Amino acid sequence: MCPKDNHLQIPDLSSPFRVGRLSFRNRVVLAPMSGVTDLPFRQLAWRFGAGLVVTEMVASRELVGNASESWARLKNSGIDPHMVQLAGREAHWMAEAAKIAADNGADVIDINMGCPAKKVTGGYSGSALMRDPDHALSLIEATVKAVGVPVTLKMRLGWDENSINAPLIAKRAEEAGIQMITIHGRTRMQFYNGRADWDAIRAVRDAISVPLVANGDVATTADASEILRRSGADAVMIGRSSQGRPWHAGVLAGAIEHPDSAAIADIVGEHYRMMLEFYGIDIGLRHARKHVGWYLDRFAPHLASQEKAAIMTSTDAHAVLSGTIAAIAAETGREDEKDAA
Ligand SMILES: Cc1cc2nc3c(=O)[nH]c(=O)nc-3n(C[C@H](O)[C@H](O)[C@H](O)COP(=O)(O)O)c2cc1C
Repeated sequence: MCPKDNHLQIPDLSSPFRVGRLSFRNRVVLAPMSGVTDLPFRQLAWRFGAGLVVTEMVASRELVGNASESWARLKNSGIDPHMVQLAGREAHWMAEAAKIAADNGADVIDINMGCPAKKVTGGYSGSALMRDPDHALSLIEATVKAVGVPVTLKMRLGWDENSINAPLIAKRAEEAGIQMITIHGRTRMQFYNGRADWDAIRAVRDAISVPLVANGDVATTADASEILRRSGADAVMIGRSSQGRPWHAGVLAGAIEHPDSAAIADIVGEHYRMMLEFYGIDIGLRHARKHVGWYLDRFAPHLASQEKAAIMTSTDAHAVLSGTIAAIAAETGREDEKDAA
């Protein structure tokens, strides 16, 4: 059977899938997002039924150098499997960091070859690695050789529209022992502009036999089915559509129903408290701000901008939480009145 024949059927999002000897419980993966998918966010997403969650990218050299931020990103509790994403530009540091991650409980190591940020590509890591496939391969080979756990790869379609080389790199990566590949259907030069090209991901499908995860602009169950249909991928990864709703991957996977407004208020409160505990009050308050903003945007869209700003900039943790929950409750009241009218 040719590899393509395996992928004519769209897989059921709620069904498990295998990567090497590991089995993932469903096909909706929470994307790694720096500054977002820290341990509290991943714990919530996992509890609500995401098939797999990935840490924020951990800079390999910094981890080897013992940077406290890298260790915080590596932390896990209660999530199985623990998938750690590493970024770097030198094979040696990637291999060393992979060993540290695996020795500290990582079940899967993911290599970041997709980040478009200048800070990262200026250091020739992230998506800049796609400009030099031979170098990218040396880094992949070193990482695979360094650890006994599966190593996976996340990348974009290519650097720009004139250098779409994801299929080529994917094929070489599979030959080097990579066990799963995720493609964000944009080039680096697109950053986050335009629409992700779900059809273009299929060329990667045709090049590899290991599991493929398709990513980019998936917000609904219909999007998830469509990206799987167009790309031939085995699973879907969601990023920004889960901001302000850590339960969203679980909803798309059919693991839970969309929570009602009382449940949302509870989750917001729990998430906030988890963040304060994880980071300590001062840093936690700052890190939590963007999540509060996303919750308010989604669930209190009529809140006046001055009131939103007042909640978000308050340095009183109790005031932030009670203000957020009250704003969400007020929105629910508005909806109920509308329904009754
Ligand atoms: C705030 C933010 C941080 C991100 N950080 C990472 C990262 O650390 N590693 C990575 O591979 N991709 C990172 N990404 C890219 C996402 O994983 C994903 O590929 C991208 O957002 C497209 O998916 P989406 O349309 O579902 O958001 C980040 C994206 C955002 C918005």
